[in-house]
Amino acid sequence: MKKINPYKPNSPVPPGMFAGRLEEIKALENGLYQTKHGNPSNFLITGERGIGKSSLITYIKPTAQGDIVAPGYEPFKFVVVNTVISNKSTLISFIKLIERNLKREIGKIEKVRGFLDDTWSFVQRLRIMDSGIDKAQTHEELDLIIDDFSFSLAQTCDRITNPEKGEVSKDGIVIFVDEADNACVDLHIGYFFKVVSELLQQHGCANIIFIVAGLPEVLNKLAESHESSLRIFAQLKVRELNPEDRKYVIDRGLEVANEQNAEQTTISSEARNLLSTLSEGYPHFLQQFAHSAFETNTDGEISEEDVGRGAFKVGGALDAIGSRYYQSAYSEQIKSDEYRQVLEIMADSMNSWIKKSDIREKFTGSEHALSNALQALTSRKIILKNPSKVGEYRLQHRGFALWIKLFGQRKKEM
Ligand SMILES: Nc1ncnc2c1ncn2[C@@H]1O[C@H](COP(=O)(O)OP(=O)(O)OP(=O)(O)O)[C@@H](O)[C@H]1O
Ligand SMILES: [Mg+2]
Repeated sequence: MKKINPYKPNSPVPPGMFAGRLEEIKALENGLYQTKHGNPSNFLITGERGIGKSSLITYIKPTAQGDIVAPGYEPFKFVVVNTVISNKSTLISFIKLIERNLKREIGKIEKVRGFLDDTWSFVQRLRIMDSGIDKAQTHEELDLIIDDFSFSLAQTCDRITNPEKGEVSKDGIVIFVDEADNACVDLHIGYFFKVVSELLQQHGCANIIFIVAGLPEVLNKLAESHESSLRIFAQLKVRELNPEDRKYVIDRGLEVANEQNAEQTTISSEARNLLSTLSEGYPHFLQQFAHSAFETNTDGEISEEDVGRGAFKVGGALDAIGSRYYQSAYSEQIKSDEYRQVLEIMADSMNSWIKKSDIREKFTGSEHALSNALQALTSRKIILKNPSKVGEYRLQHRGFALWIKLFGQRKKEM
C-alpha cells in the first residue's frame, strides 16, 4: 500500500517537525520581546543553500503572531508581513509589496482600511513612476520615496499599537524578507534598511523590525549598497544540525508518518546512523535522504540498504538534491570534464583551503588546464582564492562539497 511520506525536502519544515536552532530561536524571541517594549533589533539570518533559513522564519512567524507561545513570555501580538526578494525586485516593487501585505493583514476592518488608504496614498504616485520608460531614479527621488515609506510605516505602527475603540492592540510590525541575496543593485537594499531604520527612530517609532534571510552573499550586497548597513542587524548564522537534532528529524518524521498511515514504519539504528552521517547535518540532505529511504523501503523497517539505494540510485536523493541546488554550478556552468575533476579533487577536503600543488598531484590534465580551471571556477565564485595565502583555494560551500563527494562515491558503487 502507498504511504504518505513525512519528509519534505522541497519546502520549509513545518513547526511541528522543526529540530534544533535553540540559540537562534532564543535570540529571535528575545528580539521580539525587546521590540514589543520599544527596543527594536533587526536580524540578518545567513547560511548556505538549504541550511534552513526559510524554515527558521516559518518557525518564528507563528510565535510573533501569538499562535505559538514562546516559553517564558506572554503571547506576542505582532502584525507580520512576509516578503521574498527576487532578482527583479526594485525599491518601488519592494515597497509596494510591503504595502499590499500590510493592507492584507490589517485592512480587514473598514475604518482601518480608510486610514491605510490615506496613509499609503504616496504609493499611487509610485505606480505611475514605476511604469515610466526611464526607471532609473535619482538619489533624490529615492530619498523621497524612502522618506514617504518610513513615515507611512511609522504612522501605521502607531495606529495598531494605540488602536481606536473596537480595534485590537498589537505589539508592532515584523517584516520578514527572505532570499535577500537575490537583491539587485536597483533595490538599494543596504541603503534602504539603513535609512528606514534611522527614519523610523526619528519618527519615534520603536516597534518595527526587519528579519532578513539570505545566502552569505547577502552580506556583500548590503555592504556594497551602504557600507554601515550591516550594523543595524544582529547576525544569526545558521549551521549544520547536530547529531541529536538529526535523530530527532528522522524519528519525528516516522512518528508523523505512523499517525497518518495505517501501515507502520520503523527504522534500524544502523540506518538512522547512516542517514545522519551521510547528511553531515545538512537539513536538506537529511530530509531528501530520509524521503528517498522511506520511498525505497517496502517491508516496514528502513534498513541501511534502503538508505543507500534511496540515496545513490538514478533518480534518487543525490540526483534530486543536485537538480534542486547544485547541478547548474556543477555541470551546466562548467561544461569541461577537467573543471569537474578539479572540483572532485577539492571536494575531498570539503571546503578547507587546499594548495594548488596538492591539486596538481591528483589532476590528470596539463598545468595550463589546471590554471584555467582554477581561474574560471574562481570567477564564477564556485571556489574561493585565499586572500592571505598565494596558491590556495577552497570550495565556497560545504554542502556543495558534500554533494560532489557523495556523487563521486556513487560512480564507484555502480
Ligand atoms: N530545523 C530544521 N529541522 C528539520 N528540517 C529542516 C530544518 N531546517 C530546514 N529543514 C529542511 O531542510 C530543507 C531546506 O530548508 P529551507 O528551505 O528552510 O532552507 P533555506 O536555507 O531557506 O534554503 P534556500 O537557501 O534554498 O532558501 C527543507 O527540506 C526543510 O524541511
Ligand atoms: Mg529559503
